[in-house]
Amino acid sequence: KMLKLMKLRSASAFLSRSYGSGSVPQRKVAVLGAAGGIGQPLGLLMKLNPLVSDLSLYDIAGTPGVAADVSHVNTRSAVAGYVGEDQLPRALEGCDLVIIPAGVPRKPGMTRDDLFNINAGIVKSLCSAIAKYCPHAIVNMISNPVNSTVPIAAEVFKKAGTYDENKLFGVTTLDVVRARTFYAGKAKVPVEEVNVPVVGGHAGITILPLFSQVTPKANLSDEDIQALTKRTQDGGTEVVEAKAGKGSATLSMAYAGALFADACLKGLNGVPDVVECSFVQSSITELPFFASKVKLGKNGVEEVLGLGTMSDYEKRGLESLIPELKGSIEKGIQFAS
Ligand code: NAI
Repeated sequence: KMLKLMKLRSASAFLSRSYGSGSVPQRKVAVLGAAGGIGQPLGLLMKLNPLVSDLSLYDIAGTPGVAADVSHVNTRSAVAGYVGEDQLPRALEGCDLVIIPAGVPRKPGMTRDDLFNINAGIVKSLCSAIAKYCPHAIVNMISNPVNSTVPIAAEVFKKAGTYDENKLFGVTTLDVVRARTFYAGKAKVPVEEVNVPVVGGHAGITILPLFSQVTPKANLSDEDIQALTKRTQDGGTEVVEAKAGKGSATLSMAYAGALFADACLKGLNGVPDVVECSFVQSSITELPFFASKVKLGKNGVEEVLGLGTMSDYEKRGLESLIPELKGSIEKGIQFAS
């Protein structure tokens, strides 16, 4: 058994942190939007994750090819492709975790909120199916605007009578990934050692990195911290502009999505002390949803952790993001009801 575990470990050493003793449970994971720019590399990364036993790749087109391709990778998980709404039930049945990167991405000049009209409808219909076919699954919402799509999902689940606030997550991991990378570059510290919480939401000024809590500490000026904050907030736009009309972040997003999904699976499997930032139902501010550090466990959210001590600059950032985030949350709730 030990040998098998070691083999599984080395198969994707880059994704897996330490894993407790005992056998690895069966876990079915679905990616909805699996033929897209994020969905394809995310499907591949989930195929490399030894915690996954069944990988379900769903999209409205293109998934038979993606699934055939990914299925040839010699790792643990079985892979199945599902295409079109008729096949959505089978894609979802028995899922422990559903990752949603379905929907349109930004083009230059667009905000995440400009995606609302199209993506809100896609998310609503996918979540109705989740409520029906895998109501107990953990949901990782990647589709933008996350600040609104998470409240939409919550409303859909509430109406279906399946809402579990501990199992719905807006994926903000890419903001953390960016904050780590940008900080390491500026502070000249090893990037793999950097840890920094990013709180608030997932759009523009609602993205609030707390560099006052970063480790390892470096002596950066206030100007440097403000520039790093701005760059983290605009990281997505940096990619949208560089891609010049061909979409938004896909590869770094797939990496971030795989990292967050891995944390959710570890939590489900009982690995202790798994903490990631995520946009979840929350009571740490006046808003019903908020991103902060979250402890993950066997039932999803085990504990929503507080904001910790913030600098005056961060406190001002928090104050100014609240109205915008509040508006986006209300827009989502309104759409769903
Ligand atoms: P894409 O256009 O390359 O792929 C989207 C996929 O969704 C397509 O394959 C499309 O067929 C599929 N799709 C559309 N309607 C569907 C439905 N009803 N059911 C299942 N699949 C459906 O877009 P990309 O670049 O992969 O981005 C996807 C989403 O992720 C966008 O909303 C984007 O804004 C968001 N995103 C979120 C980030 C985050 O940090 N949370 C970062 C980057 C992008």
